[in-house]
Amino acid sequence: MRYRNSALNSGATRAALSSLAAVALVLVSSSQILAQGSAEAGRAKAAVCAACHGAEGNSVMAEWPNLAGQHASYFVRQLEAYQRGERQDVLMTAFASPLSAEDIADLAAYFATLPTVQRGADPELVELGQRIYRSGLPDRGVAACTACHGPSGRGNPLATFPVVRGQHAAYVVNTLHAYASGERRSDSSVNQMMRDIAVSLREDEIRAVASYIQGLR
Ligand code: HEC
Ligand code: HEC
Repeated sequence: MRYRNSALNSGATRAALSSLAAVALVLVSSSQILAQGSAEAGRAKAAVCAACHGAEGNSVMAEWPNLAGQHASYFVRQLEAYQRGERQDVLMTAFASPLSAEDIADLAAYFATLPTVQRGADPELVELGQRIYRSGLPDRGVAACTACHGPSGRGNPLATFPVVRGQHAAYVVNTLHAYASGERRSDSSVNQMMRDIAVSLREDEIRAVASYIQGLR
């Protein structure tokens, strides 16, 4: 990319452009994101997913993630990660493997249209959970979750930061463990940001922030 416009010469503008370029790189690195899926086609393809993820993308088992309202950009990257083995799961890997790039784009477009369901947090964990989510743990270099996942857990589709609000706490605990142990490596294309964060969290902190996330709305 080249910027020839003389109006783009200030340092601040250059800094903004270089961070835009970084976002663009994340996007281009996942080629399917650029292909717009069809939500209509995705609805039919999603019938097989409902057994675990629920009829409307909200799973009944707390260990199985909700998919309703998730950003398509993040969703695509996760299915690619299962296909590459950067994420592995006895149940999910078998369902991700046979999907074509078009299937993935369609499924992502469909699940993004479904409404998220509101859930509660454990009142006893709110104080610690909220502190970590809003302020991070500066003494250990853990950035505030809100910086990327947003004040109400809506993430950021351009940067492929996932929606986390209303996600089952049990799933969030499991997946933070998987990042911390390095078993989940789906963040390889985004500088391992979640592995670096999860490995710095203690067990009580993981439980508290997971509960807080479940209660975000
Ligand atoms: C037999 C149960 C089962 C079926 C059927 C299933 N999944 Fe999953 N899925 C899971 C489980 C369990 C996980 C979490 C695994 C993990 O921790 O990596 C998961 C994770 C995911 C994730 C990652 C979610 C996130 O927040 O990161 C996506 C996306 C996904 N599934 C999409 C699908 C799609 C699309 C289908 C249908 C083609 C499908 N799944 C079918 C059990 C299932
Ligand atoms: C610098 C940005 C950034 C910060 C800060 C951040 N995250 Fe993330 N988070 C991401 C990205 C990017 C992903 C997707 C990574 C991937 O593809 O595996 C993610 C994924 C997650 C997931 C997995 C979602 C799912 O559906 O599987 C959870 C849970 C999560 N983050 C929790 C947290 C918590 C808790 C904090 C604060 C302690 C936090 N994040 C701070 C960027 C961030």
